[in-house]
Amino acid sequence: MKKTLLITWWTWYIGSHAVVAFEEAGYKTVIVDNLSNSTIQSLTGIEKIIWYKPDFHELDLRDSQALETVFQQYDFDGVIHFAWLKAVWESCEKATEYFDNNIVWSLRLFECMEKHAVKNIVFSSSATVYDPANFWKGWGVWESASSGETTNPYGTTKYVLERMLIDLSKFSGFQVINLRYFNPIGAHKSSFIWEYPDQYPNNLLPYIMKVACGELEYLNVFWDNYDTIDGTWVRDYIDVCDLIDGHLKAYESLEKYPEQEKEEKWYFESYNLWVWSWVSVLELIQICEEVSGKKIQYKITSRRSGDIGEVYCDPGKALRDLAWKAKTSIRESVENSYNFNINSLWWNR
Ligand code: WQD
Repeated sequence: MKKTLLITWWTWYIGSHAVVAFEEAGYKTVIVDNLSNSTIQSLTGIEKIIWYKPDFHELDLRDSQALETVFQQYDFDGVIHFAWLKAVWESCEKATEYFDNNIVWSLRLFECMEKHAVKNIVFSSSATVYDPANFWKGWGVWESASSGETTNPYGTTKYVLERMLIDLSKFSGFQVINLRYFNPIGAHKSSFIWEYPDQYPNNLLPYIMKVACGELEYLNVFWDNYDTIDGTWVRDYIDVCDLIDGHLKAYESLEKYPEQEKEEKWYFESYNLWVWSWVSVLELIQICEEVSGKKIQYKITSRRSGDIGEVYCDPGKALRDLAWKAKTSIRESVENSYNFNINSLWWNR
C-alpha cells in the first residue's frame, strides 16, 4: 500500500513541486492550505503533470477542529511541512503576523501529529537561523554552527520552530529532518507549475520575469555598493526541483532509520541544502537577458529593510548522508522559469 504524506502550504510554489515529486516517487499526498497569497491554479497544473488530482483540503492550520478532521480521515505516515510566510523584509514590518502564521500554525499541526502518533516530519527551515558571525566569504557554515542570533522575525520563526522540534523529538518521539536552505528559483520543466503569488512578486527572479514578459516596466535593484563582485548582493540560488529532491531523499532516510534506535534515542538531524555557487543581482539580470533575449530595465534604489548579507553554507553533509547534490545550472532554472511565464501569458490570453 502507498504511504500517505501530509503536505502543508503546498500552493506556495515549493509545496506544489513537492506534491509532484512525492507522487511520482510512489507516495500518496494529501494537501492542506488556506490559499492565502496563492491560488488553486497549481492544483490544475499538478494534475496535468501526474494525471491525477491529489486530495486537497482548504483550511487554516490554526483551525484545530478542521485539521483534526483531516487527521481522522487519513492514516498519515509523515508530514512535509512548509509552514511559512517567507519574505525576510516583510517579516520586519509584520513581525506578529509572522509569529502567528509560522509558529502558531505549526504548533496546531504538531499537536495533531502528537495526538495521532504521526512522528516523521521533514521541516523546511532556513539558513537565516545561523548566527551572522559564522559567515566568512568562501567558508561554508556547517550544520553544527551556532544559531539563534537571527536578524529578522522570519529567521526567528524558523529558529523557534527548530527548537520546538528538537524538544518534540526528545520528549514526544518525533523523528525530524530539518532542511536549511535559502533562495529557491526555477520551475518544473513541464511549465505547468511555478510560483503563483496573487500579489506582486517579492522575490527577485519572479520580479525579473514579470519585467522580461512586459508585465512590469522595471526592476528596483536594492543598492549596488556592497562589498561584492559588482556591488549588488549575491545569493546561492537553488533550483526548486533539486530542493524537492533533497526533501524526498530526506524523507526516505527518515523511513530507513532503524525502528529499534527510534525507541532508544531521539532523532533530529539538520542538513544544509546548498548549491555552493553564487550569483549577484546584476549577474542574474544578465542571465535573464540572455535567456529571454529581452533587455531588463532596472533602477538602483536604497537597501531593502531587513535584507540580509552574504550567507555561505556547506552542503557536504547532505551529500554524505543523503546522497543529495544540486544538479541544475542557474541558466536551466532561469530557462524553466521563463518558459513558464511565457506559456502562462499565452494560456491567459
Ligand atoms: C534576493 C536578492 C534583494 C527583489 C530569500 C527567501 C526567504 C529566505 C531567505 C529561506 C536580495 C534583491 C530582490 C527586487 C532586488 N529563504 N532584490 N530587487 O531576500 O534573499 O530571501 O532567502 O529561508 O524566504 O525569499 O530573496 O529573492 O527577495 O532577494 O534587488 O525586486 O535580490 O535585495 O539581495 P531574499 P529575494
